[in-house]
Amino acid sequence: MSKRETVVVPQEEIVRQKEFLHLIRELNLGKLKKYSISTFGCQMNENDSERLAGMLAEMGYTESQKTEDSDLIIYNTCCVRENAELKVYGHLGSLKRLKKQNPDLIIAVCGCMMQQPEVVEHIKQKYRHVDLIFGTHNLYKFPELVYSSMMSGKTIVDIWESSGFIAEDMPIERKDGVKAWVTVMYGCNNFCSYCIVPYVRGRERSRGLKDIVNEVTVLGQQGYKEITLLGQNVNSYGKDLGEDISFAKLLYELNKVDGIERIRFMTSHPKDLSDELIYAIRDCRKVCNHLHLPVQAGSTKVLDEMNRKYTKEQYLELIAKVKENIPGISLSTDIIIGFPGETEEDFDDTVDVMEKVRYDMAYTFLYSKRTGTPAAKSTEQVSDDVKKHRFDRLLEVQNRISKEINDELLGKEVEILVEGLSKNSNTTYTGRTETNKIVNFKGSSELVGKLVRVRIDKVQTWSLEGTLI
Ligand code: SAH
Ligand code: SF4
Ligand code: F3S
Repeated sequence: MSKRETVVVPQEEIVRQKEFLHLIRELNLGKLKKYSISTFGCQMNENDSERLAGMLAEMGYTESQKTEDSDLIIYNTCCVRENAELKVYGHLGSLKRLKKQNPDLIIAVCGCMMQQPEVVEHIKQKYRHVDLIFGTHNLYKFPELVYSSMMSGKTIVDIWESSGFIAEDMPIERKDGVKAWVTVMYGCNNFCSYCIVPYVRGRERSRGLKDIVNEVTVLGQQGYKEITLLGQNVNSYGKDLGEDISFAKLLYELNKVDGIERIRFMTSHPKDLSDELIYAIRDCRKVCNHLHLPVQAGSTKVLDEMNRKYTKEQYLELIAKVKENIPGISLSTDIIIGFPGETEEDFDDTVDVMEKVRYDMAYTFLYSKRTGTPAAKSTEQVSDDVKKHRFDRLLEVQNRISKEINDELLGKEVEILVEGLSKNSNTTYTGRTETNKIVNFKGSSELVGKLVRVRIDKVQTWSLEGTLI
């Protein structure tokens, strides 16, 4: 997309949406209105849900943890794999009873699943109790859509096929007080042959550098310590801006922002990992020593069929360059198991990459057929049994490697950013190392949001335990 096609939503339109926020607030005045949002999928969806929450707060709704007592229920959906979709249908089915009990209840579904016309049709036919359906491109229009739904009592469907628009300055209510998501670009141009994302999130479009720096500056002032920059393909940030802007340059700018101590980002595509970016990770103090660089598969043949645009050897060379330039960097990856036509030898290549790279962490997924993507048409689909067997084998290898890497930390001192109480505990706090490892330790609430040093005295595959120094 050229520079001219990416347009920030005009200020007048944002003002108009804000007027709807106030109109709804007036309608809700004196009533204790509650909302609940269920979010599926990736961090971009989490960040979108934070925006929905921000708008809902301004409409006079407070958050409820339970769907049962909510006046407005939202499902922000994902369609990257089939099981994500099935979960949503399950939830929607069970809401029918609630709608019967409370006809004023507003049920909304949005997100990536809604960008598929057949899904919208299915919901309209089978889940008639849904009031509002919208997609990924018109999230900022949520106030107007809620207002229309309240006024008309009819099902409102508003899906845009694609969008060059970026909305700035909409309210946001963030889930966490220490770490914040910052979406820096939307969409994806890569069209990996298995992936639905480019069809439901549109083409790549980057936010303005100044807008991002401003958002992060405010986060620093508000006391946030860590930011994670989000994009389906963050390292192609800026390519559509037509100026001398790159993701590396953005990192150098954000590295200067007061208050922010740590900068993370995801996801990087190997084909766009420039030397400039490797040096930026090395040289920017606040940019964490961690890189999520999905390989997806080890076999060059499979990578080619996946349209990943690199070979096994090129990927391994890239990893070698990263390790050489950034000593001690932790690496993580995404891997798809059972891509159509994946033979046992192809899969051995995936295991081989895992052994050679020695990732700190790997997210492994069973290939899921996505209608509309080229790979779904393949007649060489791998059976579920074979996929499951390969999955188990890969998990065993990764668990061993993760544990071996973590074992090296035993007895060592590390710096962690304290995030909060550990789940199900009143005294155990949790934080992360720069390399993204979870460390649990006995602490106290005033440490939340602080960088502290701990000595590691117990090591597990997925987490570490330490003592405050
Ligand atoms: N843009 C990111 C993330 C995309 S979705 C990236 O390129 O890495 C997150 C992960 O879901 C992908 O990395 C991939 O491993 C997985 N994924 C995508 N489509 C899938 C499919 N059809 N079946 C199984 N896993 C899939
Ligand atoms: Fe999907 Fe590939 Fe784009 Fe990632 S880079 S979102 S896997 S098409
Ligand atoms: Fe899912 Fe959409 Fe993210 S399909 S992975 S929620 S971009």
